Amino acid sequence: MKILITGSSGQVGTNLCLTLLQKGNLVVGVDKRQNTWTDQIPTLQHNLAESMPNPAEIASIQPGFDRPDLVVHLAANAKVHELVKDPRRAHENTTITFHVLEYCRSQNLPIIFSSSREVYGRPTPPRVAEDTTDVFHILSPYAAYKMADEMLVYAYANCYDLKYLVFRLSNVYGRYDNDIERMTRVLHIFVDQMRRGEPVTIYGRSKMIDFTYVDDCINGLMLGIDKLFTGEVVNETFNLSSGSPATLVQLAETIAANLGVTPTIIDQPIQPGEINFYAADLTKAKTMLGYQPQVSFAEGIKRAIEWSLVWEKRPQTTVR
Ligand SMILES: NC(=O)c1ccc[n+]([C@@H]2O[C@H](COP(=O)([O-])OP(=O)(O)OC[C@H]3O[C@@H](n4cnc5c(N)ncnc54)[C@H](O)[C@@H]3O)[C@@H](O)[C@H]2O)c1
Repeated sequence: MKILITGSSGQVGTNLCLTLLQKGNLVVGVDKRQNTWTDQIPTLQHNLAESMPNPAEIASIQPGFDRPDLVVHLAANAKVHELVKDPRRAHENTTITFHVLEYCRSQNLPIIFSSSREVYGRPTPPRVAEDTTDVFHILSPYAAYKMADEMLVYAYANCYDLKYLVFRLSNVYGRYDNDIERMTRVLHIFVDQMRRGEPVTIYGRSKMIDFTYVDDCINGLMLGIDKLFTGEVVNETFNLSSGSPATLVQLAETIAANLGVTPTIIDQPIQPGEINFYAADLTKAKTMLGYQPQVSFAEGIKRAIEWSLVWEKRPQTTVR
């Protein structure tokens, strides 16, 4: 398959592109940044908020890509808190999605779109199924524009016969996510603070999150790519997570156990824009895609810490 990936220099994009390449697919990534993890992904550096590159520009990176088979659209300003401070960046996400959708419309290409659990607004226990999005309780500009992105995808399907799958991701962690200068992710903040012997701050002691080890996320996306390409599953929206939520206190304690330290926890109230609870109902993904999360929370945290400790010992070059 020839697959165009937007946001290919990010965490999910890097993992997905490398997996697709390993399985013999052709890939072109489009991102406004060069990939800082690997030089294996053929990448067109381009700001999608301004425009979509034209087919000839994309084909200049990889022959045959004047018309790929499928697009995976991951590019976004993806940090809830940063977008609470600067909602224009959330607004920009929908401009990016519009450009990618117009490209898919003009080329008649199927698309996979990475949405977020944030579209559920203020979900309630025990489990959150796909048909329970709550537009009246959307908590942040990031969430509002993810919802708007989804609605654009559905509108293009209804108006222009666009073929799509939407995946609602949830707290993906693991390889290629520890560049905390670019993007603060809770796991690596905790790891860094504990290794320095500093206390960790938890915003929302009771907050429960469906953390997803990156390999499970990538497996789900790979199943989606396959089934959308063959036409077996079309125009559906799926939760994609581990389905085994944990609190931030459990996260801190699990990291501390792996590092062999005793954590000092400072409690703070939940931050504006944050969801307090999310546990995905994965029945639909399991039934229609054959998705089955494989990596437990304890095992995933162990792997993520091991990976980041090994990674930081590597010689640093401009391309990591
Ligand atoms: N990782 C998660 O936990 C999670 C959870 C829910 C949803 N998502 C969604 O999944 C997608 C991928 O997430 P991620 O964690 O890999 O994020 P990321 O920030 O690591 O990657 C996003 C990539 O998009 C690129 N990008 C942003 N604006 C761009 C633009 N104008 N033009 C071109 N490229 C641009 C960035 O440079 C970055 O490389 C995002 O859409 C995100 O909202 C992720």
